[in-house]
Amino acid sequence: MITNSILFGTSNPNKIKEAQKILPKYTIVTPTDIHISSDIDEPYLTLEKNALHKVQTIYSMTHMHCFAEDTGLEVSALDGAPGVHTARYAGVQRNDMDNMQLLLKNLEPHKDRSARFRTIVALCISGETYIFEGILRGKISLEPLGEAGFGYDPIFIPRGYTQTLAELPSEVKNEISHRAKALSKLALFLGQADI
Ligand code: IMP
Repeated sequence: MITNSILFGTSNPNKIKEAQKILPKYTIVTPTDIHISSDIDEPYLTLEKNALHKVQTIYSMTHMHCFAEDTGLEVSALDGAPGVHTARYAGVQRNDMDNMQLLLKNLEPHKDRSARFRTIVALCISGETYIFEGILRGKISLEPLGEAGFGYDPIFIPRGYTQTLAELPSEVKNEISHRAKALSKLALFLGQADI
């Protein structure tokens, strides 16, 4: 059935809020709304494979138009780490502050603090899958600053800015972010496919 509802396979309220702002023409449905689990494993070593795995799992449960995403922070001086391990960088507790502190500690010996966020959005429409990528380049700050956003936002300064993502207004993050870029490509695709 063609509908303007689309299921976003995440339980992260921040991601849902960001996606709804970037996709105003669609009603974002969440796993919680339809009483299914959003706790899907991420067993693979690439963001692409994990995002595809998530969206295929959700599609097999619902047969709805759906998308899922996986995001990684890739730090140049650490050879792209934490990358696919971003959520559990400091351990399975997935704690944002622990993750940021470990990253800051590991970066201490390095002069190059350049990094990028990379989001892979996987879309599933009638069983067919599509991939969209969004990248935000910047650098890692010397300490966590700011209260907005989530995850590693307090230590990421986007290129062209002097403040971290957590210090910038959410409207700015939503204009420039990795997720915004990937979701804008998704929105364009959905529009062209008349969905
Ligand atoms: P996942 O994509 O939900 O598995 O997230 C991977 C890790 O990246 C988690 O630690 C998230 O908190 C973090 N993360 C995902 N998106 C963002 C973002 O937009 N800003 C900061 N951290 C993020």
